[in-house]
Amino acid sequence: MPLNQKNPTLTDSWKKLKEHFNLITKQSIEDHFKTNKNRGKEFSTNFNEIHFDYSKNKINSETINLFNELLMEINFSESVKSYFEGDKINDTESRSVLHTALRAKETDEIFVDGVNIMHEVIQSRKKMMDFSDKVISGSYKGVDDAKITDIVNIGIGGSDLGPSMVCESLSHYKTRLNVHFVNNVDGDQIHEVLKRLTPTRTLFIIVSKTFTTIETITNAQVAKEWFQSNAKKSDISKNFVGVSSNAKAVKEFGINHSNIFPMWDWVGGRFSLWGSVGLAINLFIGSKNFNDLLMGANEMDNHFKSEPISKNIPLLAACISIWHNNFFDYETHAIIPYNQNMKSFSAYLQQASMESNGKQTSRNGEFIDYQSGSIIWGQVGTNAQHSFFQLLHQGTKIIPCDFIGFSNPMNNNIKSHQILMANFFAQTKALMIGKKDSNAHKHFKGDRPTNTILIKKLSPKNLGSLVALYEHKIFSVGVILNLFSFDQFGVELGKNLANDILKDIEQKSSIKNDSSTENLLNKFFDSI
Ligand code: F6P
Repeated sequence: MPLNQKNPTLTDSWKKLKEHFNLITKQSIEDHFKTNKNRGKEFSTNFNEIHFDYSKNKINSETINLFNELLMEINFSESVKSYFEGDKINDTESRSVLHTALRAKETDEIFVDGVNIMHEVIQSRKKMMDFSDKVISGSYKGVDDAKITDIVNIGIGGSDLGPSMVCESLSHYKTRLNVHFVNNVDGDQIHEVLKRLTPTRTLFIIVSKTFTTIETITNAQVAKEWFQSNAKKSDISKNFVGVSSNAKAVKEFGINHSNIFPMWDWVGGRFSLWGSVGLAINLFIGSKNFNDLLMGANEMDNHFKSEPISKNIPLLAACISIWHNNFFDYETHAIIPYNQNMKSFSAYLQQASMESNGKQTSRNGEFIDYQSGSIIWGQVGTNAQHSFFQLLHQGTKIIPCDFIGFSNPMNNNIKSHQILMANFFAQTKALMIGKKDSNAHKHFKGDRPTNTILIKKLSPKNLGSLVALYEHKIFSVGVILNLFSFDQFGVELGKNLANDILKDIEQKSSIKNDSSTENLLNKFFDSI
């Protein structure tokens, strides 16, 4: 079934939310705590080892009820059904959206065009795990019978951000393999990576759904030439594998058929870390941990599918985000994990969220006159406290934040963890209560909204659940705001113009451009 095409702002419940907003905006967040001593508990919910506290927002039970009315008015539950059952909800590309199938159980049945896709999902999962197990154990050898020590993942966007974020976040669970990520077409990056590696002991994973992305293909070519000249071997088959839905192009590149791991058009790049795109993760943390990651995501899928709004963490997060973005006009949202290994988490969410919901057109094909997805950014705590938190506390813009923290550290240094977590709890409190001071420079107005996600431990399973939580939040925001979240036409124009300008650069000609671009190209030609 296609997704509904209702303009949310024209629904009765949106109008009621607007009236409710006019009233609630007069009360401070702290006022809500003064009138309800149990607010902390009432406005928080639990899922496995994840505790989600949304009490430090300008909401009350009426807000949640009205959002629930909105969900009913737009028939949200039907959209969730369509999403999980493989309806072609990526309408503009006529595709299903089934990253959830990549973490589904072996016994599940999920159909695309009448075919149960779980057979190929399980087959490819098994192929990836068997391969990873062999590389980790050392029974899989590179050229010259060399044991693999280093993995280089070459990909960009969804073919890079997910695997690199998960590997970094779960570095505590590392196998004996080292992993490196090459994404940018800036040749300096791959040069720096390659100079530290031994070709025969290196396994390159070329990850590209299309296998046409210029950055990835250029880097793959550089890696191939480096390998062939340094290993003094023309055969790359033991040291290069490909992850793609374009098997023909992978073979043409020189990768063996048996070393191709599949991707399907029903999984978008930015949601693909759960399948073959996660090969680098599987190699880096091992199959047992990779399975736990999948299990955590799968359990979050079931939570999202079945819980009512009051307990449904992704749905609550989505409604609060729309509340902030579309009613309060808070345009950005910061993600602050209090864990150094999660330093790429906000960059990962930037693509997942902004490539999905950074849209100007409704599902009816009309330009919208309300806000689509918010701007996502962030940095780890406590480092962020010493950079942009000044603006969060005293700036003229209000930035809602998600604070993500872990009750238990991955090391024995309890003292450091206590300091880290004291800061974690103090910041959301300070943002809410502020501080009165007769000196205006030292006055904090407070009343700044935050969500707190407190997780028992940074385990593969909990990380899987956390990432799936945000995926479903993104889906929910898109459905409610009447957007198509699973295409990304906005990235095409720049890519096409870059191809034209590359021809200009190769021919040292600038004349087909506007005068600024022409002048810039001439400056560039003069200085090389
Ligand atoms: O930037 C656009 C995009 O298509 C992303 O959606 C995708 O994740 C990335 O490029 C990489 O694409 P591919 O996996 O086809 O190389």
